[in-house]
Amino acid sequence: MPLAVELQELAADIARESGALARERRAAGVALAATKTTLADIVTEADREVEQLIRSRLSAERPGDGFLGEESGAAVSETGITWIVDPIDGTVNYAYGIPAYSVSIAAVHGTGDPNSWHALAAAVYAPAMDELFTASRGGGAWLGAQRLAVNPANPAGALLATGFGYDPSTHDGDLATVREVMPLARDLRRIGSAALDLAYVAAGRLDGYFERGLKPWDFAAGALLVEEAGGVVTRLDTASARPMIIAAGPELHAELVRVLDS
Ligand code: IPD
Ligand code: CA
Repeated sequence: MPLAVELQELAADIARESGALARERRAAGVALAATKTTLADIVTEADREVEQLIRSRLSAERPGDGFLGEESGAAVSETGITWIVDPIDGTVNYAYGIPAYSVSIAAVHGTGDPNSWHALAAAVYAPAMDELFTASRGGGAWLGAQRLAVNPANPAGALLATGFGYDPSTHDGDLATVREVMPLARDLRRIGSAALDLAYVAAGRLDGYFERGLKPWDFAAGALLVEEAGGVVTRLDTASARPMIIAAGPELHAELVRVLDS
């Protein structure tokens, strides 16, 4: 079996198991563990517990691989493969009881620096919906057994999604970006999980997605899903603290870049 497919199967299996744990903890009630960069940036006990489960399964099954997760320290790879993990993407949804949260697991060739890596395999699992999105490099993107394809451009305008950072000082700039993009849109969604936004672009549930300031674990898996579904993903301003990620089918992607890269 090709390595990328092997990694995809492992990512899928761990995403399902850890997603089930997140769902159980949610049903039992959510305990806030701490705030992080700002008061709005929260972590729950479940985020930490789910990351621990993912990490221990990976180190048992792929010793020597590197690891970069949202909630625990990084480990440098001895094999060339690094796992990029967000145990619960959409933590605020999770804490409020909104079902749009996901477990995001990617295997990349390279380090935890997105400018260095080449993604090989991805799994994004939405436990509350029991939907598993997976991809392997060259092997397509899938929702369960269904092969995914991004939408072609639509003359009615694009169904777009975006997100906002936790730091209130970034909100004005992000809202100005929304204003610039709206002429291309038929409507706009703010789902609250970047990994799901990207999975939904891959699945044709959204036409395009853009957001500034994502962290590697927010988009590593979702970006491969979009690419393997025939879409294009680029990051603008990578030297800045808040690079912009843009994901869509090729035609809409070019339009979004034209509007946003100015
Ligand atoms: C957040 C979500 C959200 C996005 C934020 C991310 P978290 O991740 O993906 O949709 O707008 O930029 O930080 O904190 O829920 O893991
Ligand atoms: Ca996240």
